[in-house]
Amino acid sequence: MQRIVQEVDTITASDLHRRLSQADGQDEVSHLAQRFNSLLDRLETAFAGQRTFVRDASHELRTPLTVLTGELEVALLQERSPTEYRRVLQSTLDAARMLTALTNGLLQIARASDDPSQVPMAPVRLDELLLQAHEEVLRRQPTCRIDLEFGEPTMPGSAFEVLGNEPLLLSAVLNVLENACKFSKDSQEPIMAIITCLGREVQLQVRDRGVGMTEADRQQVFVPFFRAEAIRTVPGHGIGLPLTAKIMALHSGSIRVDSELGTGTQVTLRLPLVRS
Ligand SMILES: Nc1ncnc2c1ncn2[C@@H]1O[C@H](COP(=O)(O)OP(=O)(O)OP(=O)(O)O)[C@@H](O)[C@H]1O
Ligand SMILES: [Mg+2]
Repeated sequence: MQRIVQEVDTITASDLHRRLSQADGQDEVSHLAQRFNSLLDRLETAFAGQRTFVRDASHELRTPLTVLTGELEVALLQERSPTEYRRVLQSTLDAARMLTALTNGLLQIARASDDPSQVPMAPVRLDELLLQAHEEVLRRQPTCRIDLEFGEPTMPGSAFEVLGNEPLLLSAVLNVLENACKFSKDSQEPIMAIITCLGREVQLQVRDRGVGMTEADRQQVFVPFFRAEAIRTVPGHGIGLPLTAKIMALHSGSIRVDSELGTGTQVTLRLPLVRS
């Protein structure tokens, strides 16, 4: 026991790869050491994930900052015409707006990763939230066409009502609708957003007939900052879906992505209904 205590005392955040040596017997002390070692396995994986996240986030933040600084430095090298100053101001404003959107997304990821008991929750009607998200997407992408379909609520009075944090849920729905618009620009068919009740859950399904993705890409869509090679010309940072997945987990819900390259994508969100 004393040896275990000594070994435990030497493990810090910077050497989480270390393990207790007394873990290969059958007795209770070995059992405790084994459990402690598997706790270290989990912590090591979580720390590695955090490190990757911070590295990728810094990279995403640095790119627009580099563009911004470069553009301003070049503009200041000599006197310019008012038109030129205007162009530089516009492009730096665009970069600053992108930075704002990105930092907002990162802050939301941090909030959604928090302890659920710290996030304020209240009854939220998902059908009303969908209308709100629809309006916002059209404001951002006026050419986008989305058909909304509302199924019959199973419980009258508490229709499509879930217990949740409204700003976070709105952001989840918005991310999915916005992706459907962004990645189906050349499609003639409208996007379908269908909300239904299934037993004790409410389901929102968003289908597009856009570019779709390969199975290999589909498996990575929840990895922060992942973006499919083919769509890199479309603006984005690869944080919408990882954020949506975190928000769904925070609400005891789920997200599922089905897709076929060149055919389209279907995203299904499910959340537990408020029990009446
Ligand atoms: N509806 C869709 N059709 C085709 N590909 C999609 C669709 N939704 C997501 N993807 C793929 O999954 C990747 C991750 O999506 P995500 O929403 O996280 O990032 P993004 O939309 O590229 O950027 P951001 O959401 O940060 O603005 C996308 O870059 C794209 O490759
Ligand atoms: Mg997105």
